[in-house]
Order: sequence, then C-alpha cells, then structure tokens
Amino acid sequence: MASTPLRVLVITGSVRRGRLSDRVSTFVMQRLARLDGVAAELADLGAIDLPVMEERLGRIDPPPPGLVELGAAIEGADAIVIVSPEYNHGYPGALKNALDYFLPQFKRTPVALVTVSGGGHGGVNAWAQLVTVLVYMGAFVLPQTVAVAKVQDSFAADGTAIDPAYEKRVDGMLAELVWLAGRLRD
Ligand SMILES: Cc1cc2nc3c(=O)[nH]c(=O)nc-3n(C[C@H](O)[C@H](O)[C@H](O)COP(=O)(O)O)c2cc1C
Repeated sequence: MASTPLRVLVITGSVRRGRLSDRVSTFVMQRLARLDGVAAELADLGAIDLPVMEERLGRIDPPPPGLVELGAAIEGADAIVIVSPEYNHGYPGALKNALDYFLPQFKRTPVALVTVSGGGHGGVNAWAQLVTVLVYMGAFVLPQTVAVAKVQDSFAADGTAIDPAYEKRVDGMLAELVWLAGRLRD
C-alpha cells in the first residue's frame, strides 16, 4: 500500500496590492506538483487578512476568520515553504504578525525559505531575520535556500520562471525539504 503523501504547505508572506512574490509561490506550487508522494497546499496571507495580533491562537475567543484554518494547516504540515519578500532590509510586518499567532505549531517542522526582492540581492536580509525567528519557534530551518533577485524580471505573472535557473534551484531545495520531512515522519 502506498504511504500517505507528505503534506507541504506553501505560505505566501506578501499581502501587498500589486505584489509580485506570489508569482514565486505559484512557481513553487507548480514544482511541488511534479513530485510523487507530495500533497501541496497554499496558504496566502493576502487572502486571510489577519488583524494585528493581540493574542496567540488558543487564547483569543473568537479567533479572527481564517486563523484556526491557518493554524491547522501549519500543524498538519510535514514541511513548510515560506515565500517572503524583502521590505526595508527585513521581512514584511504582515508575515511577522501571522507568525506571532503561533508557536507550538512550528515545533520540529522543516521549513524552507524562499526570499524575493526587487533588487539584486534576493532578500538575504529577510532570510537572516526569518532564520532567527523560526529557529526560536522550534522549526528545523533548511540550510538550502532560494533567493529570487529582480523578481519582476525573473518570473512571469503566471508563475513561469523567465530565468530557468530557478527550476534547478527550487527543485534542489524541495528535494532536501522532502527528504528531511520524510525522515522526520518515519
Ligand atoms: C515597503 C517596501 C520596501 C522594500 N524594501 C526593499 C529592500 O530593502 N530591498 C530590496 O531589494 N527590495 C525592496 N523592496 C522591493 C521588493 O522586494 C519588491 O517590490 C518585491 O516585489 C516585494 O515583494 P511583493 O511584490 O510581493 O510585495 C521593497 C518594497 C516595498 C514595497
């Protein structure tokens, strides 16, 4: 009997109107769809519209719409990919706000980071900040990462990689993520 698929959750960390990094999330979902034994799900923070965090999940009654579902998706995931833009040498406040609703849900969860910038550095500053936060939260942050520079030139609106080098980079990162998630699940 085939084993249950590994559940990989892709979180889009941008809620900006006219955003571009959702193209990268679409691309990651497309690459995940090519993998056997993987069931991918997308959590788009732009579609959830979480209010400013006043208390963590489990301590707010009633919880804001979408929060319980997001928490269940994170908790149920065998692995997570966070796609985050870089804003002012950091990652977006909306993403930090979402992360702060949670803590135990990330424990021992393999997390891969994909950072996105309009400039040439690929969001390395956002990456450094996310590593700090996620390690504190107990996630196993993957050393393999993908930094997308000049997203406007690198990805088309439908998520196609204009620069095909991203196919190899993302596939390599996902292979490591799926390997680790499989080991941890077993
Ligand atoms: C508020 C803000 C701050 C930004 N700061 C940086 C930055 O520090 N470094 C950089 O390379 N790009 C920066 N950019 C460009 C973004 O990385 C680029 O617009 C990218 O597309 C952001 O993802 P998004 O389109 O999903 O919002 C900034 C953009 C915004 C809106």
